[in-house]
Amino acid sequence: MRAPSGVSRRGFLVGAGAVGAGAFVVGAGAAHALEANSTDLVHHPPVDFYGQRQAGIATAQQDRLVFAAFDVVAVGSLAQRRAAVRDMLATWTRAAEAMTNGDAIPGLNNAPLTPPADTGEAFGLDPARLTITVGYGPAFFDNRLGLESKRPTDLAVLAPLPGDELDSANSGGDVCIQACSDDPQVAFHAVRNLGRGIVVMRWSQLGFGRTSQTTSEQQTPRNLLGFKDGTRNIRSDDHPTMDEFVWVGDDSDQSWFRDGTYVVTRRIRMLIEAWDRDFLQDQQDVIGRDKYAGAPLSGGSEFTAPNFDAKDAAGDLQIAADAHIRLASREHNGGIQILRRGYSFTDGTDRATGQFDAGLFFIGYMRRPEQFIKLQSKLGASDALNEYIKHVGSAVFACPPGLKPGQSWAENLFT
Ligand code: HEM
Repeated sequence: MRAPSGVSRRGFLVGAGAVGAGAFVVGAGAAHALEANSTDLVHHPPVDFYGQRQAGIATAQQDRLVFAAFDVVAVGSLAQRRAAVRDMLATWTRAAEAMTNGDAIPGLNNAPLTPPADTGEAFGLDPARLTITVGYGPAFFDNRLGLESKRPTDLAVLAPLPGDELDSANSGGDVCIQACSDDPQVAFHAVRNLGRGIVVMRWSQLGFGRTSQTTSEQQTPRNLLGFKDGTRNIRSDDHPTMDEFVWVGDDSDQSWFRDGTYVVTRRIRMLIEAWDRDFLQDQQDVIGRDKYAGAPLSGGSEFTAPNFDAKDAAGDLQIAADAHIRLASREHNGGIQILRRGYSFTDGTDRATGQFDAGLFFIGYMRRPEQFIKLQSKLGASDALNEYIKHVGSAVFACPPGLKPGQSWAENLFT
């Protein structure tokens, strides 16, 4: 990220896509530019902030996540509350555009008697494919902001699902921000700088390590159970499937929401220590895949289609009746698919058990929340994986479409 001009600091490198490889921007107080050392930083072209759809959904999944949900705390008359939220969203838009491009938050950064507009910890860092994606929760459309008529019909708090052990402190929220980057400090900086305004943070989640393959070029990563994850995920470059299962189309009852999508997040705690004591064969039977190769237990290699009817010599199903991939598969769930874009997390130690408070922060993008509800109703009731996981947080948000230069996230909601 480029520091604001006039700030006295050493020269620093900026993203190749922004101003050309090896270029330097030097603060006014620094008279000499440093020589480029191209091995210091890995350069990524910035991800375009503008487009038909928001970035951070179809974007090849970055390695780090900071996700936060906020409640709106605007006060005053309805008109004042609406204006305050509209202005905040406009400010967020300009700030997100700047940060995505590797620029400082617009505003006063050099006035000695004013807190700097930008908190500063990302100066000198490449944006590392930063994307900032926003969404609105069901409560955003209640009468506090007079947005009742703008609520997409399908947007509602998820009803309790089988096996839920939700903590309301880690659930819900009026507005969410998902910041993804290959640099954790850049992602943190993005949420920290946006989350100032007429909102209070309700919960947040840091994610390290993507747990999904989201484009055809990416390697399949592993989740904290040690298994490859994302093998049969939707590929975001598979446009017909994205249109069918992820992007909201013309059929939406809300014109502002076309080209948007729903995101469902679930904080899923993994009982890692129990898992780690389990035999390899049992672990594989729980998932339905080979732990190392990622191949389905019916044979072949990672990308071989599972044969859910295959039986072994004893006549038993090779992919067990309660295996995760059987129950989650489109072949057994009525044809549903979703775009999974989750991250591994650990939040230190669970004091009650002395074990890691770790797991999967599940993020699923979909055209209708009912896709998740149907899937999780089945998984929560019968998945062999349930012995090793607990769903402890839940939220759903409607993510608006992308923007054209000059537009704001408030655009079609408040005008
Ligand atoms: C901690 C919890 C979870 C773990 C460790 C986990 C792990 C996995 C693994 C290892 C695979 C196989 C590789 C792949 O195709 O991606 C998989 C597949 C899948 N998972 Fe999960 N998963 C979890 C939760 C969920 C949840 C909550 C959902 C949705 C409600 C879900 C939906 C799916 C789907 C749709 C597939 C693809 C199945 C197929 O078509 O073969 N998973 N998961």
